[in-house]
Amino acid sequence: MIVTVGNTKGGVGKTTVALNIAIARALAGRDVWLIDGDRQGTAQMAISIRGDRVPGIACSTYPDGQVLRGQLQQQAKKYEDIVIDAGGRDSTALRAALTLTDVLVVPFQPRSFDVWALAQIASLVDEAREVGGNLRAFAMLNCADPGETSTDNAEAAEAVADYPQVALLPTPLRRRKAYANAAGQGLSVLEFKPADPKARDELTALVDMLFNLN
Ligand SMILES: Nc1ncnc2c1ncn2[C@@H]1O[C@H](COP(=O)(O)OP(=O)(O)OP(=O)(O)O)[C@@H](O)[C@H]1O
Ligand SMILES: [Mg+2]
Repeated sequence: MIVTVGNTKGGVGKTTVALNIAIARALAGRDVWLIDGDRQGTAQMAISIRGDRVPGIACSTYPDGQVLRGQLQQQAKKYEDIVIDAGGRDSTALRAALTLTDVLVVPFQPRSFDVWALAQIASLVDEAREVGGNLRAFAMLNCADPGETSTDNAEAAEAVADYPQVALLPTPLRRRKAYANAAGQGLSVLEFKPADPKARDELTALVDMLFNLN
C-alpha cells in the first residue's frame, strides 16, 4: 500500500508520523520504502541517524514531483508498503504523490491555522481524484492535548466535517516527548527507550487502522 503523509501546512508532524508508520510496518515484517519528498530531507536525516539498526528502512529523497512519480512507478512493486513524507507547502512532490497514493494521511494540530489549512488539502484531494485513481484521504489529529478531558477530538471532528473530501481517523497521536525524542534518534516510539506505553498504544492503533481500512 502507498501511504502519503501530507499537509500544505508546515510543522504539523508529517515527518514524525511518516517515520513512525514506516518503522512500525517494518517491525511487523513488511518490506518498507520511505520516500522523503521534502527538500529539507528530515526523514532521510532521521534514517541516516538510525544507522544500521534493524529493521533497516530503505529511504530515498525525491523533492521533485516528476522524479518522485517516475521512481514510484518504476520501483513500487519491489516493496510491500511505501510511506511518503510529502513535505510542506503545495509542492510538486505532494501533487505527484497524490496521483499514485492509495491513502493520504493529513496530520493536523488542534489549532486554528491548522484547521484552516484543511481547505487547501481538500482541494488538492479533489484535483487528484479528477485525474483518476482511488485516493482515500484521512485527517488525523497530531499533538492532541494529552489530558483525558480535552475537547480537542470533538472540536477537530467538527472542523473536519466541513471538508467532505477527508474523513477523521479516530486514532489521534497526543503531544508526548517520546515522539520527538524517538524521531531524533531515527527511531519509532515502538523502539524508543524508556518506552512510553501511551505513545506506543497510540501509534499501534493508528497503524492498525490505516492498514485495515475496509
Ligand atoms: N505527537 C507529537 N508530540 C510531541 N512532539 C511532536 C509530535 N509530533 C511532532 N512533534 C514535534 O513537532 C515538530 C514538528 O514535527 P515534524 O518535523 O514531524 O513536522 P513536519 O510537518 O514534518 O514539519 P515540516 O513542515 O518542517 O516538514 C518536531 O520538533 C517534532 O519532534
Ligand atoms: Mg517534515
